[in-house]
Amino acid sequence: MTDVWSQTVERGDDGCLIVGGVDVRELAGVFGTPLYVIDEADMRARACAFRDHFAAAFGRHHAKVDVYYAGKAFLSSRVASWMFHDDLNLDVASGGELEIALRGGMPAKRLGLHGNNKSDAELRRALEVGVGRIIVDSSTEIGVLDQIAHELGVVAPVLVRVTTGVHAGGHEYIATSHEDQKFGLSLATGAAFEALLECHDAANLKLLGIHTHIGSQILSLEAFQASAERMLGLRAAFATEVGFEFPEVDLGGGYAIRYTGGDEGLSAHDAAFGIADAVAAAVEKTGGNWPRLSIEPGRAIAGPAGMTLYRVGVVKQVLLDDGGRRQYVAVDGGMSDNMRTITYGAEYTAAIASRESEVEPVLSRVVGKHCESGDIVVRDVDLPSDIARGDLLAVPATGAYGRVMSHNYNAVLRPAVVSVRDGESVVHIRRDTLEDLLSLDIAP
Ligand code: LLP
Repeated sequence: MTDVWSQTVERGDDGCLIVGGVDVRELAGVFGTPLYVIDEADMRARACAFRDHFAAAFGRHHAKVDVYYAGKAFLSSRVASWMFHDDLNLDVASGGELEIALRGGMPAKRLGLHGNNKSDAELRRALEVGVGRIIVDSSTEIGVLDQIAHELGVVAPVLVRVTTGVHAGGHEYIATSHEDQKFGLSLATGAAFEALLECHDAANLKLLGIHTHIGSQILSLEAFQASAERMLGLRAAFATEVGFEFPEVDLGGGYAIRYTGGDEGLSAHDAAFGIADAVAAAVEKTGGNWPRLSIEPGRAIAGPAGMTLYRVGVVKQVLLDDGGRRQYVAVDGGMSDNMRTITYGAEYTAAIASRESEVEPVLSRVVGKHCESGDIVVRDVDLPSDIARGDLLAVPATGAYGRVMSHNYNAVLRPAVVSVRDGESVVHIRRDTLEDLLSLDIAP
């Protein structure tokens, strides 16, 4: 299969897709559709590739680097346990993600807690369990965290989230380091420097360093290099003016993946060596010691490893204004299990999964079952004209920001997540049931 599919995907003798050694017809039969399927070997290989390439690239300079898997891309307690066993750390972005990570056995010391508006309860819980780092995002939070740490009699390890002004990333909603947005403290206005001073002076905080995340689905190595340069410049300026060279610099996530055959991605290898070079150049320029670096890939670990399996329902031929035709293929999910198409105009591809077809492909659009015309899963894709009710359709590269952004619009039940490996499948998150749905509704 082409490389938008995860590494173990192949066609069996009868043309049916097999992933992790399991026939997708069997998966659909046992777990129902829609279904998110994670190729365990693929996801863990990607996690290990980040760990190993970054270790090698920074090892050349005798420097340390930590990889934090960004759990917001997809998190289950089993994924947390994979990351634990594969020697990665884990980023959580809420109290909920924190509890899932702990349930998976990830030691709190290996967790980082993010969020632009953490609640007192989230901060308190993080300190009680002893998370390794809290990424503070505002002056307000610095004060609140210092107070809670004081009450608990602990010292809170912190990084300050910096807005570097490097504008990168795909859609506007996933670019995060330009000035006019809610995250972080500005490097340009001096707000970041101020926050660093506050943390440095706070009695109950331990300043570990600075953090930035310039956006998501970023292809350009130059953007990461520019961000590294600015971050090291800030660290050097703080060291000169305040006399404290904080040890850590986190450059966030954002490594692009391929969603369709026409896309490019940014490989862990190229990112590792490119960023190490940029850090080396910056250290050379500013003097001082190498920082302990960290990164937070999410999509690049989970995304390509996952696919969504749908059952085809209604197929319609629609006449277009230019006289052409488009085949509409309606599946049993839609915007409730994939919010990315409608939110970011994301592009995907799709293929019949339960068989192969020799029939000529035609311009098609994969749509869902929701009461909304924007309910599109795949905007443009060529699919055989004999696709029919009952066929299974697979959409690759849905492992990141799929299930985690799913919802119950139209009281549709959210799909299960299973992982497959060596012919075995295991449930991470079970399918919603009608009872789940009705249990939230308080009858009159
Ligand atoms: N670190 C921080 C602080 C982040 O905010 C994010 C993503 C990451 C790491 C991981 O970024 P990644 O490597 O996955 O690109 N829902 C959007 C993506 C939102 C990303 C939010 N933050 C999407 O589906 O494209």
